[in-house]
Amino acid sequence: MPSALVRNGRVVTATASFDADVYVDAGRIALLGQGLSLPADTVVDASGCLVMPGGVDVHTHLDMPAGEIASADDFETGTRAAALGGTTTVVDFATPERGQSLLAALDTWRAKAEGRAVVDYGFHMALREVADSTLADMARLARDEGVTSFKAYLAYPGVLQVDDGAFFRALGAARECGALTLVHAENGGVIDVLVKRALARGDTAPRFHALTRPPAVEAEATARAIALAEIAGGPLYVVHLSCAPALAHVAAARDRGLPVQAETCPQYLFLSTTDYDRPGLDGALYVMSPPLREASDQDALWRGLAGGDLQVVATDHCPFTVADKARGRGDFSRIPNGAPGIETRLMLLWDGGVRAGKIDENRFVDLVSTGPARAFGLWPRKGAIAVGSDADLVVWDPERVTRLSAQTLHMRVDYNPYEGRLVHGGPVAVFSRGELVVERGEWKGRPGRGEFLKRGHGAPRPV
Ligand code: URP
Ligand code: ZN
Repeated sequence: MPSALVRNGRVVTATASFDADVYVDAGRIALLGQGLSLPADTVVDASGCLVMPGGVDVHTHLDMPAGEIASADDFETGTRAAALGGTTTVVDFATPERGQSLLAALDTWRAKAEGRAVVDYGFHMALREVADSTLADMARLARDEGVTSFKAYLAYPGVLQVDDGAFFRALGAARECGALTLVHAENGGVIDVLVKRALARGDTAPRFHALTRPPAVEAEATARAIALAEIAGGPLYVVHLSCAPALAHVAAARDRGLPVQAETCPQYLFLSTTDYDRPGLDGALYVMSPPLREASDQDALWRGLAGGDLQVVATDHCPFTVADKARGRGDFSRIPNGAPGIETRLMLLWDGGVRAGKIDENRFVDLVSTGPARAFGLWPRKGAIAVGSDADLVVWDPERVTRLSAQTLHMRVDYNPYEGRLVHGGPVAVFSRGELVVERGEWKGRPGRGEFLKRGHGAPRPV
């Protein structure tokens, strides 16, 4: 396997920044030090740049069926876009068909990724129902297959939602096998009533998506999930947390010492309810769940990221084309939920977070790489710049300017929620297990080189 040397850069980890060269051999970091002059197959001069561990995106939906359609990126196009944006590991959601065993679902989702993924990937397993056989499958997945996290939806009744009893059983089973329970925290039953009422009134425009999923339905479900996790005695991870009242419940739980973690996503930091008022069908492009929120929620999320109440920034990358979104013309409840983001996460968070002075560079690395790697049993193989870690490296030019646009980004979707936005800071070179897959912003990798990651057990962050 070829060796590589990244010279003259400033290494930035979750805890420190220091000048060092990084020598890579056999896909792993072999040596860190100043003035290294070892022969290497690939040499990258990182003068003026930062060298960070590759991004770890623990919330993606690649090749995800959604009724008659599927999310627009498959494992090749999605992971290539991820790498071009500085992300070198993804953890996607495998979702069983109703009645399908979790083990069979894992086979299905591994087959989607194998031969296509260009960076390393793992899976969480979604739980559609919680039968005795499901609990047995959970134990096998966690013990034998490296699937150590399970997601329950408290929303989408009749499709994905599980009731409180099923969720509680899953929390207990996950605790017993040392796994982490993820929760989509919105009250699906209440949302269903609000949606039906809105449609009956003739309120069909995209903005009613947000109005029928108010912050209180997320806050209620977040509080309930925390309470059920506490009774079950297990850890909890709240996905795509979007608003101040839900964050307050997470912060209060953590203050009480409960093993509760939460992620937010760039869309909740940079977009808002005003995007639903865009003309024509454009508001539909911003339909996702939870919906976009207010500026005051964004402020609270930034405080949560800086202060530690939020531990991860992931993407919930779930792209649908403009034509897919148009299926909801005249009925907001038929707009496919989700938006693209796998490529832009690091650029947005650097520009709006580090450059804007809201978080420092070490916190940035923690939020996009080390924190998620630790939470999901990938650290220190991923999310670290240390001897022995996988050589997943991002050479980051803080001065690089990018105008975000669907025309130039690489996600397989014909719009971008941040179209025209200028961001400072971006990846110029990206290594995945020691292989230079992005050079001067150009793609150099190949499909199928990504490997399935059998994950270990995550470590709850100290509160
Ligand atoms: O709108 C969203 N978030 N779509 C993806 C599925 C989910 O709820 O995470
Ligand atoms: Zn999601």
